Amino acid sequence: MVLGILRSFLYQCICSIATSGSCAIKPYNQLTLQSGFRKDGSKSDGYVGCGIFFPPDTCSYRLHASCSVLTAELAAVFYALQKIVASHQRLYCIYTDSMSAFEALCHTDKRMHPVAEDILCYMHELQAQGFKILFCWVPSHVGIVGNEQADSAAKAASNVWQSPNPCNDLKIFTTRHIHSLWQELWDLEIRNKLHFIKPRINIWSIIHIRVTDVKLTRLRIGHTRFTHKHLLFGERAPECRTCHINFTAAHILTECPTFNSHRVTYFNSSSPNMKELLGEFPHPHLFDFLKAIGFYHSI
Ligand SMILES: *[C@@H]1O[C@H](CO)[C@@H](O)[C@H](O)[C@H]1NC(C)=O
Ligand SMILES: *[C@@H]1O[C@H](CO)[C@@H](O)[C@H](O)[C@H]1NC(C)=O
Ligand SMILES: [Zn+2]
Repeated sequence: MVLGILRSFLYQCICSIATSGSCAIKPYNQLTLQSGFRKDGSKSDGYVGCGIFFPPDTCSYRLHASCSVLTAELAAVFYALQKIVASHQRLYCIYTDSMSAFEALCHTDKRMHPVAEDILCYMHELQAQGFKILFCWVPSHVGIVGNEQADSAAKAASNVWQSPNPCNDLKIFTTRHIHSLWQELWDLEIRNKLHFIKPRINIWSIIHIRVTDVKLTRLRIGHTRFTHKHLLFGERAPECRTCHINFTAAHILTECPTFNSHRVTYFNSSSPNMKELLGEFPHPHLFDFLKAIGFYHSI
């Protein structure tokens, strides 16, 4: 009887999944090490792969660069099940340190991860065949044996993941890619007035009073009625009488000595920069200053 229980322990298979490069086997007890699984979902530098260490064998799979770490971790579970089905043992315990993979498997709903769905179907089949498979979450990398094997396995993956890439992963990947191309182009626009104020392309909050928001945007891009209406009317550009240069939004806000005392009053500085005044969170006294110098209604 005792021997039987001991033997069933022997046949148990221990798996664990890591969220990044390295992964983990949790020694369940001394006997289990002989049939340990090691799995890893790793993603670094556009490389996505997962590795399974099933002593004495190691196998690894490469996923498309668009796949998320979660997909890689779930793929590792899927391949682990394939290993399990090919073995003679029936009792397995899969230890995972990937809480997200665990949650993806536990929360069955309409928007379930496609690989998690495949895993659950597979599990049903295996259960029907008499397999008993448990999942257990363990904190990552605690008392882990054999990290390197699975880690290098995941990174040297030669086999290619055969299932279709999840649609959501592709959507996120494409969005990120387009965004980075856009950012690269924007990085070259160093002469653009807005570029100095907003070098990174991201979403800034808006001011909920439309008129104010429009004026702020005009100041940021440097196009105001006062400085640019001469183009429409075929007139001469308005010129600063003090400095004898054409007016620009930057000249009015940050340079012209005529407004120095107002700047000190409202901005506590005679030479603030455009980023401080017009950045994501505009200076709280910006509009008071504009009203005080009589520019507000000409923007
Ligand atoms: C000022 O604007 C006029 C157009 O009205 C333009 O011809 C001139 O070059 C501008 N001066 C400077 C210094 O930009
Ligand atoms: C104004 O600037 C000075 C230093 O230039 C600083 O010591 C002072 O705290 C500032 N005051 C306010 C209200 O920000
Ligand atoms: Zn001036």
